[in-house]
Amino acid sequence: MRIDDFRMLARERIPPHIFDYIDCGACDEITSRANRRDLDEIRLLPLCLRNVADLDLRTSLLEHSFSFPIGFSPTAFHRLVHESGEVSTAKAAKTLNIPMIVSSMSSIALEDVVRGSANENLWFQTYIFKDRALTKDLIQRAESSGYQAIVLTVGCPVAGRRYKNVRNRFALPDHVVAANFKQRKVVVHNNPVHSVDGAELDPALTWNDVEWLRGRTSLPVMLKGIMNPLDVQPALDLQVSALILSNHGGRQLDTTESTIRMLPEVAAAVSKRTTLLIDSGFRRGTDVLKAIALGADGVLLGRPVMWALAAGGEKGVIDAVGLLLEELRIAMRIAGCQSIDEIRKNSSAIIRG
Ligand SMILES: Cc1cc2nc3c(=O)[nH]c(=O)nc-3n(C[C@H](O)[C@H](O)[C@H](O)COP(=O)(O)O)c2cc1C
Repeated sequence: MRIDDFRMLARERIPPHIFDYIDCGACDEITSRANRRDLDEIRLLPLCLRNVADLDLRTSLLEHSFSFPIGFSPTAFHRLVHESGEVSTAKAAKTLNIPMIVSSMSSIALEDVVRGSANENLWFQTYIFKDRALTKDLIQRAESSGYQAIVLTVGCPVAGRRYKNVRNRFALPDHVVAANFKQRKVVVHNNPVHSVDGAELDPALTWNDVEWLRGRTSLPVMLKGIMNPLDVQPALDLQVSALILSNHGGRQLDTTESTIRMLPEVAAAVSKRTTLLIDSGFRRGTDVLKAIALGADGVLLGRPVMWALAAGGEKGVIDAVGLLLEELRIAMRIAGCQSIDEIRKNSSAIIRG
């Protein structure tokens, strides 16, 4: 099995318009494909005879020790693919001891995800909505229900165009709602994430608004959606706890550069001054190895989590991540790296263009 097999299983189990909603990228899906193609094009040069009998994959993020450097990006509406939705995903993340970012567009209320999963290590993703009172309220709810970080998605001043959704006249089924909002029912064909009444995106956002958000919470704040190295310094000036290099899986602005291509430049700009995570296109253990070697502290998964949840619920998610972990362990051994630190130290030796 490989991660893509979970995609095929999901395709068999969920209606085509829901499969398309998860699978699609913006416009011509050029960035979605580039994310994969550019990862594939990086070649490895293994080092031999390095005693890789015992591997150490432990990864510390926000002062918590996770089992390995893989986690879950925020994805909306998990009940689209499985009735127990985000609770199952959060249980899987707890069993695996890896980070999960719960979307503000979850189909189970953020408090119930914590209660139902007993996962005390969740991070909460939000946007700064036009309605600042609503944004503040969400952050306070996340803080008081035990979330460990606020992940602010940036780079989404407006919703990207998703033609497959428009063509399919995509709408959420009746049993799936934006559970964190009063106006829970969403009817929109392009992108339901940005269509909750009263939760409109704000194209007028600036760095001052990030500062505003930082002042509203004592939790660590991360920014998801940084692509340009020029955006690193303003983020560091605001002392954010982590940056997530992300083009949102190619779902926002088509023809945006792939994240793996931007990683060396962004990592150089960060220069170890904050944690750097990456997502968009990661499907193989070798992909994770490449990202660590090129300067990421961890890799996050979007679509694979939804596919695995559709394929087998909580167990499906655990199995899919287990598969990726096994691939990573094989890749580390054959590349001659015993630990995450060794991947970093050997970076220039094991990575070819
Ligand atoms: C179905 C779906 C829903 C998503 N919902 C959100 C969301 O609510 N907030 C957000 O910041 N990103 C969202 N994303 C983007 C993911 O967080 C992530 O950046 C992207 O999926 C990573 O790429 P990958 O799917 O190739 O792994 C969503 C992605 C998918 C596929």
